[in-house]
Amino acid sequence: MIHYSSSDRSFHLTNGRISYILHIMQNGQVGHRYFGKAIRLAENTSHMNEMSYRPLTAFPDENEFLFSTEHQRQEYPSPNAGDFRMPAVSIRQGNGSNISDFRYQYHCIYDGKPALSGLPASYCESPDEAATLELHLHDAITDIELTLLYTIFRDRCCIARSACFRNGGAPVDLDTAMSMGIDFYDSDFELVQFSGAWSRERHMITTPLRAGVQSVGSVRGHSSHNHNPFIILKRPDTTEHAGESYGFHLVYSGNFLSAAEVDTFGVTRVVQGIHPQNFCWHLVTGESFQTPESLVFWSDEGMNGLSQEIHTLLRTRVARGYWRDRERPILINSWEATTFHFDEEKILAFAEKARDCGVELFVLDDGWFGRRNDDTAGLGDWYPNLEKIPSGITGLSRKITAMGMQFGLWFEPEMVNKDSDLYRAHPDWILQTPKRQVSHGRNQYVLDFSRPEVVDCIYLQMEKILSEADISYVKWDMNRSMTEVYSAALSAKRQGEVFHRYILGVYDLYERLIRRFPHILFESCSSGGGRCDAGMLYYAPQCWASDTTDAHERLLIQYGTSCGYPISSIGAHVAAVPNWQTNRRTPLHTRANTAYFGAFGYELNLHWLPEEEISQIKEQIAFYKQNRRLFQFGTFYRLQSPFTYNSGAWMSVSEDGMQAVCGVYKTLNRPVCGYQKLCLRGLLPDVKYRITGGDKEYTAYGSELMYFGLLISDASSSERRPDMRETCDFDSRLYVITAELEG
Ligand code: GLA
Repeated sequence: MIHYSSSDRSFHLTNGRISYILHIMQNGQVGHRYFGKAIRLAENTSHMNEMSYRPLTAFPDENEFLFSTEHQRQEYPSPNAGDFRMPAVSIRQGNGSNISDFRYQYHCIYDGKPALSGLPASYCESPDEAATLELHLHDAITDIELTLLYTIFRDRCCIARSACFRNGGAPVDLDTAMSMGIDFYDSDFELVQFSGAWSRERHMITTPLRAGVQSVGSVRGHSSHNHNPFIILKRPDTTEHAGESYGFHLVYSGNFLSAAEVDTFGVTRVVQGIHPQNFCWHLVTGESFQTPESLVFWSDEGMNGLSQEIHTLLRTRVARGYWRDRERPILINSWEATTFHFDEEKILAFAEKARDCGVELFVLDDGWFGRRNDDTAGLGDWYPNLEKIPSGITGLSRKITAMGMQFGLWFEPEMVNKDSDLYRAHPDWILQTPKRQVSHGRNQYVLDFSRPEVVDCIYLQMEKILSEADISYVKWDMNRSMTEVYSAALSAKRQGEVFHRYILGVYDLYERLIRRFPHILFESCSSGGGRCDAGMLYYAPQCWASDTTDAHERLLIQYGTSCGYPISSIGAHVAAVPNWQTNRRTPLHTRANTAYFGAFGYELNLHWLPEEEISQIKEQIAFYKQNRRLFQFGTFYRLQSPFTYNSGAWMSVSEDGMQAVCGVYKTLNRPVCGYQKLCLRGLLPDVKYRITGGDKEYTAYGSELMYFGLLISDASSSERRPDMRETCDFDSRLYVITAELEG
């Protein structure tokens, strides 16, 4: 899959679907030639290089007026020596200079893919699934070796990239160490970013690229609700179903930068990696620094094609472990039902009612530990509050498992309240800058996870409870952004390392818990979707996508999230109305129709509901159990964007194409609205399907459903047709499409 051409010192990574071509430039640095649909090469690729004289260019060699780093497409550019665009690397040296000149030394090509020590990354299960190119470069002045890693997967339109520095010289400061850089030949792109806020995460925002830098990033210590590390560059005419696009996924959960810069000559540079702001890694002699991994995807099958590539890779080669391919249990979570106010009796009654409805997993959320009766106390003290739960977590978990349900528990391992035994014993364990005010968020402070002894202490507390009780699920929360970031355990020179060391501490704790409890299903959470990233997916195969449980808001959030994250990873629950976050009332069936397209569950007190709704919930659960694999692991298509239209729609198709489910979600009723028709995707043209869930049940071949489509007009018009059912704002339909065996 990786071919080296010595005549022009170029490398062609190809698997028949994509080609990625890079080369060693005349100055010994690494240049970029092509990334996109697979191409067949007649000869070497030297003709792909353009060099021409341009005014105001800086040329490194005397009597040379063609070669300049400003005009070369590069792979991992450095600053301050002719290239004025964003660098991928910047190294502050003893004499104050930040110039580096990484020149090719040698390369290795081998089957498989190496793991990145201490960091999440994609992986392969056998060496023939992937091939890796290691490019070894060297900067003579600093004596730093830089290894650029490129892995191509046999069956995926994806290249995994990262960089590793090894310092053989005097100590330096790594100010910028991105995971990847790439220079595209043109700038005819739109940037799709996934931005928002708490409870409004990952809304799709599309803007044309223009001259200059467009970027998203986080310096909050977590990947954040505000922006997601995942971005797309698409061609302006690319739709959900056709056209070219590139996806950039950083496999990392801390501060990040994903940026695109269009230069004067229409070249687009993309860099992605740890955000350089607040980052500075002091690299001493003999030490190495490994960047996180960046996964770079390509598709010419529209944004759905891109998402499907991403879903498959993230679901099967980033997520790991026992739960990776298993259907996820239907859970009920106590948070919106009880908040901090419960006792054992209440919990048992709640669980029993859920069990009777068919729920499989009961999750006890915040409030079970220490003196946690509101958000001012208890974080850090991971032992049960026996006043609330006299049987302790061990006793309670056994009572619930005896009911025939699994039991799950909430933790917020990285945080501490001042009113806690842990803080009283170790007030110096929080992130705080000497002599400065230390900000709180929700009355809580951030434990310094860059310190191994802090991570050890939390591990021991969690290990005790998880080993003593019957726990099969953990919700790992993280409820504030990090401020005044400074570690009492590190020297002044190393304070720029704290953000990254913190995340390494988080990964270390996850890794230890996963190894010790391989059967526990972890769900990541950060006030909902504040740490929904590919890094987390390596440890927790699902993520509580948002604290918004309102069905309409969820439609937007899940629509955006589905662009970059597999459906099985999107935690989605049915909650009560009026909704907590929006005060909106949506029909119960719409709440379920939205949450089905995710790791499904409930987040409400079933005792509040009338019998009629309880029967509806029983039916929902039975229906989801029957179709769970289809929802969680089917091929997902976005059909109609709720960001653009009054109705949003999506569907999932089984691997063999014999079954599908399609959800159509209306926002508001409109008078005298137009007729609506929706073309389905991914069905088998010559298979006859039965369609239920609409106004009438009928059969149709896949070709009709895909090319003519489904009629989805609704009866909100002032003239109602008798064959249409009553409808309301936020109504939805779920069409079930099942192949009929023909004799
Ligand atoms: C965060 C989570 C919620 C819930 C609360 C508990 O906000 O996102 O789901 O667990 O914390 O305090």
